[in-house]
Amino acid sequence: MKCEHIGVIGAMDKEIAHLLEKLSSKRTGEHYGYTFTTGRLGTKTVTAVRCGIGKVNAARCTQLLIDRFPVDLIISTGIAGGAGPEVEIADAVVATGLVQHDFDVTAGGYPKGYMCTGISKDKPTVYTPDPALVRALEKAAGDIIGPDKVKPGIVATGDVFVADASLKAEIHSLFHALAVEMESAAIAQTAQGAGVPFTVLRVISDKADGQATDSFARFENETALHSARIIVSFIESLS
Ligand code: ADE
Repeated sequence: MKCEHIGVIGAMDKEIAHLLEKLSSKRTGEHYGYTFTTGRLGTKTVTAVRCGIGKVNAARCTQLLIDRFPVDLIISTGIAGGAGPEVEIADAVVATGLVQHDFDVTAGGYPKGYMCTGISKDKPTVYTPDPALVRALEKAAGDIIGPDKVKPGIVATGDVFVADASLKAEIHSLFHALAVEMESAAIAQTAQGAGVPFTVLRVISDKADGQATDSFARFENETALHSARIIVSFIESLS
């Protein structure tokens, strides 16, 4: 797989700040209110952007990234709520599949998360990153935070901050999700639609339960930095 120009998307500034510090020969461009920063990291060109919160922001920003920059890989990075019992705060979840947990045409007899694609009508729609990229990202994450703290699995995206144990349990049981967040499946859908490979890393800031808001506030800076550090190391490992 050709990989010369990598796009990195985070929802919040703090999710890409460390990466921006590491880029050399930086230049920025504004497109429809998004600031795209392009620079060099090792032997790669990187364009990083903060997309804002939620699926529409994520999809708009991903399409702009693809249209305006010759990216051949897109990375979604940042923090997430833990959705599986095996996932702890500060663990890294590397997505093996992405679902949109709030996509709901169950009234038509379809399962939750089925996105009217016409394919596998009896299952939620899953966007699947390249397995070789998943393995390389797992390795980079393991080298930084220890392999025991790296959990490959499903990441579930929706336009909701999950702070309720019963919603979290429902998302886990319907999709076997390990993490919940608000952008990556939209990034995956847009990237796949344009034929651009993608991969997703999320570090856990909270457990998506009744304590999620407090936990998020306490751990967001530290876990966002972990995610960016892993991405820097991952990109350097591709060189
Ligand atoms: N990002 C971080 N924590 C989250 C949560 N609990 N729900 C959705 N997105 C998140």
